[in-house]
Amino acid sequence: MKIITNIKQMQSWASAARKKGKTIGFVPTMGCLHDGHLSLIRKARHDNDYVVISIFVNPTQFRPKEDLRRYPRNFTQDKKLAQSSGVDVIFYPKAHAMYPDGYKSFISVGELGDVLCGASRPGHFRGVATIVLKLFNIVLPNIAYFGQKDAQQAVIIKQMVKDLTLPLKIKTLPIVREKDGLAMSSRNKYLSREERQEAIILYKSLQAAVGMIKLNNKAPREITKFMRKMIRSRSSARIDYVKIVDADTLENVKKFRGCVLICLAVFFGKTRLIDNVIVRV
Ligand code: PAF
Repeated sequence: MKIITNIKQMQSWASAARKKGKTIGFVPTMGCLHDGHLSLIRKARHDNDYVVISIFVNPTQFRPKEDLRRYPRNFTQDKKLAQSSGVDVIFYPKAHAMYPDGYKSFISVGELGDVLCGASRPGHFRGVATIVLKLFNIVLPNIAYFGQKDAQQAVIIKQMVKDLTLPLKIKTLPIVREKDGLAMSSRNKYLSREERQEAIILYKSLQAAVGMIKLNNKAPREITKFMRKMIRSRSSARIDYVKIVDADTLENVKKFRGCVLICLAVFFGKTRLIDNVIVRV
């Protein structure tokens, strides 16, 4: 397994592989790899000749008071996990290489970036789309893999690929959960023992919502109200949002039709967790 830190070297490696007719599967990450990332890497391994992952904690997707500094990093462990999962290259650039002095260009993601997580994290998806496009231009993947946990991110990246006619395919893979249902996330590390225990309510509330849609034929508003009540029963939980939206447009739904995304963001102490399920009605 190669570790490449230099942008030009990464581009030359990728274009040489593409010239030989090899396919590149790409998993962009911010490191601190867990089973969610590993499921993306395994799928990329299965689908492609080469697998490249990037490890880069992207400063432009964090707001000034967010957790950029304390975002967990563990490159030694990441290297081991990547190697044992069959990664060919880790692209591991420095922040000043990706955003040198005088850097000016950003992707505008439109209204998809203003709702849900974008409403409480203004500018977040502008930073995500910008770094992902830069990484695509450096790694030159045939297919890039994203987790369904970041549902809004996946919708925005697919839209960007479509709008900018980028020559690659995006695959979104299901959320990987702990045994008790908590969605895997690098941020779970921040939770105290009590918060970790209380955070199980997120998946329980999503399951309850799915049950209500399938069995009781309740309206979206009633369901989100019920979910909020469930979540508020946990003392360390503070709700950012609980919504039911169209899975493609991210617009609020008043009546169930087609594919809906039930999604939420909730703080446990200082840690903000997100989770979701997609339901075809
Ligand atoms: O999902 C993530 O880990 C990040 O948002 C990504 C896609 C690696 C961009 O920094």
